Amino acid sequence: MRIVLVGPPGAGKGTQAAYLAKNLSIPQISTGDLFRANISQGTDLGKQARAFMDAGRLVPDEVTIGMAKDRMSQPDAENGFLLDGFPRNVGQAEALDAMLKDEGTKLDAVLDLEVPEDEVVKRIAGRRICRNEGSHVFHVTYNPPKAEGVCDICGGELYQRDDDTEDTVRTRLEVYHSQTEPIIDYYRAQNLVVTISALGKVNDVTERAMEALKSDQ
Ligand code: AP5
Ligand code: ZN
Repeated sequence: MRIVLVGPPGAGKGTQAAYLAKNLSIPQISTGDLFRANISQGTDLGKQARAFMDAGRLVPDEVTIGMAKDRMSQPDAENGFLLDGFPRNVGQAEALDAMLKDEGTKLDAVLDLEVPEDEVVKRIAGRRICRNEGSHVFHVTYNPPKAEGVCDICGGELYQRDDDTEDTVRTRLEVYHSQTEPIIDYYRAQNLVVTISALGKVNDVTERAMEALKSDQ
C-alpha cells in the first residue's frame, strides 16, 4: 500500500505511522525525521533545513522533494510506504503524483488525522523524542517512558525538539492551515481521503485507522 498521513503538528502522525507501518509491513518515511537525522549528522542538507525548521516554516521544495524521492526509491519502499509529513503543500503533492505516475503506480489512500487545536498544543508541550531514533516518541503524561528521560526502546536520551516552543508551534499551525490543509482538497478530488478522529488512546486510534484503511479498499 502507498499511504499519505496528514494532520496538524502534534496530531500523532509519527506515533501512528510507527504502528501502521508495522501492521502493514511497509516502511515509515518521515521527512521531519530525515531532516532531524541530517541536522544531527551535520550534513549540508541538514544545514539548509535547520533555520526553516527552527522557525516553524516549510523547508523549500527544491530540498524536500529530492530528499523524499531518494528515500522512496530505496528497495524497501518498492512495494509501498507510509508517508509521514510529506507532501505538505500542493506543489509537493503534484511532484509525488508525477513520480508515482512515472513508475506506473499511485496512492491508495490519504489518512487525515483530525484533532482539536487545544489537544495538539498539549501533545506537543509534553512530547519527548529519542536522540538515537526520531521515531521513538514519548509524552511526559500521555505516554511516559519507564525511566524519566530515557528511551524505553533503545536506552537513548530523550529530549524536547527545538521547534516545540510556543512561538514556533503557533507558526507551524498557521503553516499547516495555509499550506498543508489545501492538499486535503487536492486529494479529495481524487477520492483518496479518509478522515478519522485522532482523539483517545494511541492503540484505539491505530485500530480506527486500520478499519478506515480496510473499508477504503
Ligand atoms: P515534522 O517532524 O513532520 O513535524 P509536524 O508535522 O509538525 O508533526 P509533529 O512531528 O510535530 O507531530 P506528529 O503529528 O508526528 O505527532 P507525534 O506522533 O509526535 O516536521 C518538522 C519540521 O520539518 C516542519 O516544521 C518543517 O520545517 C520540516 N518539514 C518536514 N517535512 C517537510 C516537508 N514535507 N516540506 C517542508 N518542510 C518539511 O505526537 C505528538 C505527541 O503526542 C507525542 O508526545 C506523543 O507521545 C503524543 N501522542 C500521540 N498520540 C497520542 C494520543 N492518542 N493520546 C495522547 N497523546 C498522544
Ligand atoms: Zn530510542
